[in-house]
Amino acid sequence: MTQEKNVDPQLFTDVIEGFSQEQKSLPSKYFYDERGSELFELICQQEEYYPTDAEVEIIKNRIYEIVALLGDNVQLVELGSGSSMKTRMLLEHLNKLAGYVPVDISEEFLLTESEKLRNEYPDLTIEPVAADYTGSFEIPDNPDAKKTVIYFPGSTIGNLIPTEAKAFLKTVASMIDSGDGLLIGVDRKKDRKILEKAYNDKNGVTAEFNLNVLRRLNRELDAGFDLDNFSHKAIYNDDEGRVEMHLISRKDQEVRVGDRIFLLKKGETIHTENSYKYSTEEFSELASEYFDIEKTWVDHRHYFSVHYLSLKTDLTGF
Ligand SMILES: C[S@@+](CC[C@H](N)C(=O)[O-])C[C@H]1O[C@@H](n2cnc3c(N)ncnc32)[C@H](O)[C@@H]1O
Repeated sequence: MTQEKNVDPQLFTDVIEGFSQEQKSLPSKYFYDERGSELFELICQQEEYYPTDAEVEIIKNRIYEIVALLGDNVQLVELGSGSSMKTRMLLEHLNKLAGYVPVDISEEFLLTESEKLRNEYPDLTIEPVAADYTGSFEIPDNPDAKKTVIYFPGSTIGNLIPTEAKAFLKTVASMIDSGDGLLIGVDRKKDRKILEKAYNDKNGVTAEFNLNVLRRLNRELDAGFDLDNFSHKAIYNDDEGRVEMHLISRKDQEVRVGDRIFLLKKGETIHTENSYKYSTEEFSELASEYFDIEKTWVDHRHYFSVHYLSLKTDLTGF
């Protein structure tokens, strides 16, 4: 590369690798720079984006069952915590909470949101960890904790392809002990029209979120994307059981990433995100190697599920 600015070598490698495939792609974790995290919060407020309302409905209606299962003196570790919006419902109801550890790849946003939480909950131990949860990271030691619960809301697990999701669940299982748990939000399969509307909101917020990844590459990799030459599209891929987000090239064009040039034909797409949808049976199958599902809750429309899982007893210490 020729540019002199500080370039994240992993970002550069991942982009070059993704653009060298026949179907060009980018890992969805790169959506989340500070602006990307802000845009995701706005997506959650769009009327078409049902997952947030559905998950909030479940937590609100089931909060006493949930806190009873989680128990007392818990260290709550949230993966992909974002603004910790849903978490506040847990923080308010959990008894003698030992501490809260928000983990997120979007460092500036994580630190800003943790500061807000510290002001709201001055007596709570809050220890943010800026990390990629698909890699290795340390959960801070908490001498007051009797139990660790990993919280993974937002159906963020759907961003991983099933083999990655299985490997991720194995990593989570290796981080916790017998008696610990995983509270996870999972989006369910449903009518294509509802799914596609949710990811193509009429205000264009998801489109802006999708395009923002190119803005990030221009800034961080000195890339030369003209955002006006791309448009957003999300489609439901029935065979794979996932919503796919793409950036469509509006014309034949050459784009530069560092010192590499890539050709994009008119209509060709960059695949930027997957959101896999799981029936309860499919999710149970995915998790069953490492976890037992203790409880499943769904919202009144059966759009979304929240599961509480415990580590399989014969796995402890692996
Ligand atoms: C779909 S949003 C969900 C946010 C929030 N948990 C919710 O339920 O609304 C995904 C979150 O995970 C974070 N994230 C995405 N990929 C990540 C990774 N590989 N490691 C750590 N955090 C990641 C993003 O920054 C974002 O905050």
